[in-house]
Amino acid sequence: MELEQIDTLVTIQQLEKENRILRKKLERSETACRELEQTNHKKENLLRQIIKDLENSQKEVKEKRELEQTLSELQRTQAQLVHAEKMSSLGQLVAGVAHEINNPVNFIHGNLTYIEEYSQELLKILHLYQHHYPNPVSEIQAQTETSELDFLQEDLLKIVNSMKMGTDRIRKIVQSLRIFSRMDEAEFKLVDIHECLDSTLLILQHRLKRKPELPEIRVLQNYGNLPLVNCYAGQLNQVFMNILVNAIDAIEELNAKRIVQESKENSLQITISTSTIDREWVRIKIADTGVGMPESIQKQIFNPFFTTKPIGKGTGMGMAISDRIITETHGGKLTCRSNPGIGAEFTIDIPVCRQCSNSV
Ligand SMILES: Nc1ncnc2c1ncn2[C@@H]1O[C@H](COP(=O)(O)OP(=O)(O)O)[C@@H](O)[C@H]1O
Ligand SMILES: [Mg+2]
Repeated sequence: MELEQIDTLVTIQQLEKENRILRKKLERSETACRELEQTNHKKENLLRQIIKDLENSQKEVKEKRELEQTLSELQRTQAQLVHAEKMSSLGQLVAGVAHEINNPVNFIHGNLTYIEEYSQELLKILHLYQHHYPNPVSEIQAQTETSELDFLQEDLLKIVNSMKMGTDRIRKIVQSLRIFSRMDEAEFKLVDIHECLDSTLLILQHRLKRKPELPEIRVLQNYGNLPLVNCYAGQLNQVFMNILVNAIDAIEELNAKRIVQESKENSLQITISTSTIDREWVRIKIADTGVGMPESIQKQIFNPFFTTKPIGKGTGMGMAISDRIITETHGGKLTCRSNPGIGAEFTIDIPVCRQCSNSV
């Protein structure tokens, strides 16, 4: 063989060898590739499962949240129902008690007038006796001294007067309790709010007038153009009365705290403003320049029997009644803003026509 041919043979053998090695490598890499594919497939499946699990748990969380919401709504409704039930039985109880107290108190109150009259008549006769028989027999003289006749005469009328004040107070409380617990009397009517305000102011004239210890309280009336409002006139008057009386009390209280020179006439003022909010609502604002109240008191003023006034003056029912009349009976809103030492402002918003606004 020629040398050239031998070289070619060797090269071919080498090439074949390399070829075999390469094929083996290829086979191995193909297996690796297949294994990789399988692993990838498994991974993909696993990921898909994880996503599915996640989606499921998300759904569960959402459902749980919805359940929790429903539960808390149910609890709130239940609390409201319990509260409503309690209030209604409390209302019935209050109405019953007020009714029972009403008769005997009126009985006592009515008879006190006669007691006063009869006592005065008896005293007149006694004075006549004393005048015409200045020197009675010794037995009468002795009894006059033991009975302390002079003191007795003086005290008798005082006692009758304080009894009258007492029964007057009980009657007022009973009346408030009856209004508070029986809101559904009387009927809805078309009412001129300005007329109501004016008549309430008229009744309160004696408290607004100048007094020795207090200059006149001025009332500013910023009346807007109001439509007739469908409401219970008597109850609305009651609300105006309660708010105005409180305003006067607050002004008097602030004035009592001041040194005389300090009280300037224009600082004793009640401002009543009326306006329409839109075609369906009207607003009445009553502001005073009285003592005002801190946040802590403001929060409580609508609670029945809450009062900061001395014993014998406040019943604590005025604002509770007013709130009920405005919110429950008339479907409106009663709010209060105040700065201690500067004054308070009450805002009443009521629908022009409750039935109409209910149906909207
Ligand atoms: N215009 C006002 N200025 C300051 N405080 C007020 C005013 N109106 C109400 N208040 C406070 O609200 C309390 C409750 O008022 P109310 O229910 O009318 O009861 P009362 O007048 O019998 O105390 C009052 O005792 C007072 O502390
Ligand atoms: Mg009051």
